[in-house]
Amino acid sequence: MRKHNFSPGPATLPQEVFQQAADALVDFNHSGLSIAEISHRAPEFVQVIEEATSLVRELYQLPDYFEVLWLPGGASTQLAVAPMNLLGLNDSMAIVDTGFWALRSIDAARELAQVHVLESASATHYDRIPKAWNLPADAKYLHVVSNETIEGIQYHEYPQVDIPLVADMTSDFLSKPLDVDRFGIIFASAQKNFGIAGITCVLVNTKVLPVNSDRKVPTIWDYQTHIQNQSLYYTVPTYPVYVALLMLRWIKAQGGLREMQNQSVAKSSLLYDEIDRNPLFEGIAVKEDRSVLNACFRAISPEVESQFLEYCSQNDVVGIKGFPTVGGFRASMYNGMAMESVQHLVQLMKNFKPSL
Ligand SMILES: Cc1ncc(COP(=O)(O)O)c(C=O)c1O
Repeated sequence: MRKHNFSPGPATLPQEVFQQAADALVDFNHSGLSIAEISHRAPEFVQVIEEATSLVRELYQLPDYFEVLWLPGGASTQLAVAPMNLLGLNDSMAIVDTGFWALRSIDAARELAQVHVLESASATHYDRIPKAWNLPADAKYLHVVSNETIEGIQYHEYPQVDIPLVADMTSDFLSKPLDVDRFGIIFASAQKNFGIAGITCVLVNTKVLPVNSDRKVPTIWDYQTHIQNQSLYYTVPTYPVYVALLMLRWIKAQGGLREMQNQSVAKSSLLYDEIDRNPLFEGIAVKEDRSVLNACFRAISPEVESQFLEYCSQNDVVGIKGFPTVGGFRASMYNGMAMESVQHLVQLMKNFKPSL
């Protein structure tokens, strides 16, 4: 029997997607070949990557001047590659310190350019998104972590600024519709909302790419290289792209991004309502910034916490232990998480009787 997996990523996908992925690994479209043994340049695979690209374009309604890239190295690589491509040697970018992944972005960007940290939520242990700050005139773009996976806080409205946003959307990509025109670069690794580990989808607004930068970007890191080669400059991780295609088809068949958003809100509301109702638990983030993808909460004492973790594991719930810097629990509910699993967890919270 399948477990209810609330892991923050790699995360669960719908059973039917895992089944189709498993079938193709053995025999892709009755070709007598595994999807993993055909060339990334074979027409069969080119069709796969082209369909995945056109589904991303369709779901986000991307204008022509956006390019969709499929790159290896995870979102972590993009934390450096985005500033490398967008900033000249003396340029600066701005960022709000919202948590773990903002700090990683600050470290990565500082190796390349000047970074203005506008405000930090560290004083309140990253339980909220700072919203009162001033943008310096020289910032070329504002980096946002649209959903801080570890602390469970999310931008429900993006900051109104007159420079492009560069967004690390690793944990909320394809989870709601977006006004893409405000963004210069959007990137997300696949293993949370749309696939398995190994591939990162990068949306590049070509209008923001500098024309004559004084930085020589190494060819392999240059977005232009991958735009010109349709992401086939190197051997793209073919199987992760194929699984992403299956998830993109699944998202479209469900009704697209508005439906993903409705499902996310329904799943997370059910859980947050129980967290707020049940005297044994409490939410960690402030309500207005709570993430609909990663719900972080605590029990009333460490003792109750360890009893509830044990109770979860006896009842087929896995992956809900919080990250060490935050503690407590974190229930991750990405696109592939079924409502039934959230209902199961909420029922466990209701039934749970700690021995005090
Ligand atoms: C918001 C965010 N950004 C970046 C990353 C890093 O992604 P990767 O491990 O694929 O490099 C993660 C991973 O969990 C994340 O949650």
